[in-house]
Amino acid sequence: MEKYVIRGGKKLSGEVVISGAKNAVVAILAASILSDEPCVIENIPNISDVTIILQILAEMGANVRMVNKTTVEIDPTTLKNVPVPYEKAKLMRASSYFLGTLLGRFCEAHVSMPGGCNLGDRPIDQHLKCFAALGASYTIEGGMVNLTAERLVGNQIFFDKNSVGATINAIMAASKADGLTIIENAAKEPHVVDLANFLNSMGADILGAGTDVIKIRGVKRLHGTTYCVIPDQIEAGTFMAVAAATKSDILIKNVIPKHLEPITRKLVKIGVKVEQFDDAVRVVGGDDYVGTTVKTQPHPGFPTDMQPQMAAVLTCAKGASMVTESIFDNRFRYVDELRRMGANISVEGRVAVIEGVDRLKGAPVKATDLRAGAALIVAALGAEGTTEIYDIFHVERGYENMELKLRGLGADICKVDEPDPAEAEKPLRKAL
Ligand code: EPZ
Repeated sequence: MEKYVIRGGKKLSGEVVISGAKNAVVAILAASILSDEPCVIENIPNISDVTIILQILAEMGANVRMVNKTTVEIDPTTLKNVPVPYEKAKLMRASSYFLGTLLGRFCEAHVSMPGGCNLGDRPIDQHLKCFAALGASYTIEGGMVNLTAERLVGNQIFFDKNSVGATINAIMAASKADGLTIIENAAKEPHVVDLANFLNSMGADILGAGTDVIKIRGVKRLHGTTYCVIPDQIEAGTFMAVAAATKSDILIKNVIPKHLEPITRKLVKIGVKVEQFDDAVRVVGGDDYVGTTVKTQPHPGFPTDMQPQMAAVLTCAKGASMVTESIFDNRFRYVDELRRMGANISVEGRVAVIEGVDRLKGAPVKATDLRAGAALIVAALGAEGTTEIYDIFHVERGYENMELKLRGLGADICKVDEPDPAEAEKPLRKAL
């Protein structure tokens, strides 16, 4: 079982290059199924969610070839209309994208109910609503979602809830439907726009991605393309939080500053300096920060995927801070772990109140999900003493070479593989 061992309290320096966006690439790889020709996708991060999706595509018969470390060629023409492998699909939320893309390609899809980070209730009713609006019927049996349609016909879709995944699924299925689809209350995240741009580069007809209303005229066929995935807004934001927590001066390269604005605004408000360049930001941590309020919102509001990392910075800000999580039911599972490090946080429903303390202290902690793990890394780097972070497989789902990138900034972090204590107990139990 692998863990990170971090000796905190060091000032960092230098520069870090951000990888391709996890939440864009998982949608784009799935959407490649809609093409009638091979696609080349560049700037893909080497993370486990991407590995799983590429394995799923290959197991379903697509021809998947790594051109280099960050570029993959996918020839979906040999893909078969078969169920998505259950054991792999149930591991991540992004497997829900195979519903929209297979429906768009074959008018049929059989995919397990999605998995992913445990953030409370994560239904798929809005996804099913958009598929039904386009003419599909569905059943849910044995953990599988089964979609079938005679044909897909464009329609008006109004989402009761702002949903990134449902918006992406609606765009993919509608791209091959007959006629016009209008999506209202659409999600506006950068990765929604990136997916639309990818499909348009293949000959789709999508207008308005990034706004509340997206119009899609279905097309009969989509041709191949070469497409470069946008940089990861949340990885960049995580390194901004690292600079703040360690009071360091760090240059973060390969970013789109516009995507970082909600994060930049909050960090500047507490006392961090941020300088923007064309494709980089320089973040200079201060000696002390003032508490603030953070409320997560759909883009362009403060991203929920940065909520734990921001809370980790606020644990040592002067005064009280209030963090409201308005997207997910329970995205505070990391709070208990921060308390082990001396954080003073109380949680009531979707609101966490953080009383700033002078310094956190290293402790053994456990990543409960992807961004919770990122928050513990931020906290550990700023803390006094040594922190061990267990269950780092969560972190490696969404961050490429995290310990190498941090070591490149001078952080004292290493990845250690040690026997799982539960495994170690087994012989003892047998002996008793
Ligand atoms: C995507 O999840 C991201 N995952 C999440 O990132 C991110 O936190 C989330 O969008 C919000 O930005 C990927 O892109 C793979 P939603 P998704 O549908 O699509 C409710 C990370 O850390 N809802 O926008 O599942 C839902 O329960 C991960 O990178 C319904 O009620 O999020 C939630 O409360 C974590 N019915 C809210 O909407 C539905 O049918 C937003 O969910 C769908 C969603």
